Amino acid sequence: MDVTVATDRAGLVKARDGLGPGRIALVPTMGALHEGHRSLMRLAREHADHVVVSVFVNPLQFGPNEDFARYPRTFEADLRVCEEEGVRVVFAPSAEEMYLPDRQVGVSAGGMGGVVEGAFRPGHFDGVLTVVLKLFNLVQPDVAVFGQKDAQQLALIRRMVADLDVPVSIIAAPTVREPDGLALSSRNRYLSEADRRTALALSRALRAGAARAGMTDIAGVAGAAPTGMAGAAEAAGAVRATPAEILDAARAVLEEAARFDPPLLLDYLILADPATFAPVSDDHRGEAILAVAAKVGTTRLIDNVVLTL
Ligand code: PAF
Repeated sequence: MDVTVATDRAGLVKARDGLGPGRIALVPTMGALHEGHRSLMRLAREHADHVVVSVFVNPLQFGPNEDFARYPRTFEADLRVCEEEGVRVVFAPSAEEMYLPDRQVGVSAGGMGGVVEGAFRPGHFDGVLTVVLKLFNLVQPDVAVFGQKDAQQLALIRRMVADLDVPVSIIAAPTVREPDGLALSSRNRYLSEADRRTALALSRALRAGAARAGMTDIAGVAGAAPTGMAGAAEAAGAVRATPAEILDAARAVLEEAARFDPPLLLDYLILADPATFAPVSDDHRGEAILAVAAKVGTTRLIDNVVLTL
């Protein structure tokens, strides 16, 4: 079945009406679709009868010195991906269609939007939540799928849905990685060959941290089973690593990469509570997110892995 493209509200209503009965899953994207987005679409199909993908590079979530202008825009290729993945509707509005010129009201991500990633990107999560809520209101999906790769975004969207009683179920999709461990991202296409070699330190650091936490199946960090990695050391009766020890193991890899050419410039490395993004304490039990952000050349990259402490 062909994919219907809607670029305005009226077109979206018509396309949505044309879907007929059944559950709708929304996959919000900013385009430049890659294998990671394909995995979101496939997961969406498992949870609904119809999949709608939005393609919108949201100006509200970019800071003044960020990459809004150069963010890759590959609409024709994106459409082919959507067709191949059985997507029924692509909603690709302009900024003018999405936002009134005298726009006043938006969603505030609160305190949780100002920590970790939010501390480096002021206003970013307000912009993300505002566009996501608008997309929910316009598309009216039953479920929406987001990548675990943007872990804090995912946590904040869950928070928004809970705090504002938004009637959409949120589904998390595991991070998809290159065979060498690099997490897929639309921004990877900015990386030169040398940048890419340095960038591999991010997933290597997460692997080192996960191994320190007792995770033996380190292939999981490189892509096989990226979430919910159990502390095998504890299961085997060994002494649990503390958060500081896990962070030290990861930091050692990042410090080495700070001496590469080009160097890795670390923004943050944190072991965080997945629901609040506050740093975990020594007595934390259960899931914790080991998250990292760094610049390599002109590209800023983020990555994370879910550990079970
Ligand atoms: O994750 C993204 O691509 C964006 O932040 C999203 C959720 C599509 C909102 O613009």
